Amino acid sequence: MKLIVGGSTGFVATEIIRQALSNPAVTSIIALGRRETPVPPNAGPGADETKLKSVLLNDFENYSDATKKELAGADACIWTLAVTPSKYKSFPWDDVVKVCRTYTAKALETMSQLPRGDATKPFRFIYVSGVNSERDQSKKPLILGDYCLMRGAVETLVLDYATQSNGTVEACIAKPGVINAPGHTRPLWQKGFYALIGLPNIQVTEIAASLLDQAINGVREKDTLSNEDMVVMGQRVLAEREQEKAGVVDN
Ligand SMILES: NC(=O)c1ccc[n+]([C@@H]2O[C@H](COP(=O)([O-])OP(=O)(O)OC[C@H]3O[C@@H](n4cnc5c(N)ncnc54)[C@H](OP(=O)(O)O)[C@@H]3O)[C@@H](O)[C@H]2O)c1
Repeated sequence: MKLIVGGSTGFVATEIIRQALSNPAVTSIIALGRRETPVPPNAGPGADETKLKSVLLNDFENYSDATKKELAGADACIWTLAVTPSKYKSFPWDDVVKVCRTYTAKALETMSQLPRGDATKPFRFIYVSGVNSERDQSKKPLILGDYCLMRGAVETLVLDYATQSNGTVEACIAKPGVINAPGHTRPLWQKGFYALIGLPNIQVTEIAASLLDQAINGVREKDTLSNEDMVVMGQRVLAEREQEKAGVVDN
């Protein structure tokens, strides 16, 4: 299958690409970003780096014909492109909304209208949001209220688009808490704050494995994955991948 990773230079996307490079079910990865996407470090011995193609886009509100050609034939997209909560105060609010909402809507609309790899199956769009994003616009969270409502509205937009697509689009929303990785450090105050407000944790390997599984095998059971769903799914998938690799070595 051909997979698009949107926001491909980011923390989560890098791990998704790293795992996809050694997953035989993924035959092609389009890394869509505003900067060149390098092959992730520690790609591993089974990684096929030739599957990765970095595609640059200057303006995420306008997809050129050349860009559309690169994206055509994809079966799924994992969309990680956003201004994250820790960075959003550095930008004017309108720009944050443009990146988080307008760019997501445009990506979904553009990609879902392109020819798919397997026309008998829906195009899968997996949107990475956050645990506290709030869909109910009357319930403004106390912390990062406007931001959480805005991201919740994007979740609704994605799910509504799929519902209205006559079965041509399948959507999934991922709602992780704090995503951790060895060497991915945060200031102490931030760690303390996250613990204080009770955010759940997940390893980047786990979320990447679970989202990749959704992209490859289709949205299973439900259209919204909680942090805990992804921990359980991610650990299962990672264990299966280890067993497969051990089997290859044994044979
Ligand atoms: N990290 C966490 O602990 C965490 C927790 C919960 C939810 N999430 C969610 O998971 C998703 C991915 O998070 P992440 O930590 O991987 O984020 P990240 O490392 O900041 O990556 C974000 C991606 O979006 C791109 N981007 C940002 N602003 C852009 C703009 N104006 N134009 C074009 N591209 C732009 C970045 O490009 P550049 O590299 O060029 O800047 C990068 O590719 C986000 O939706 C985030 O809210 C993350």
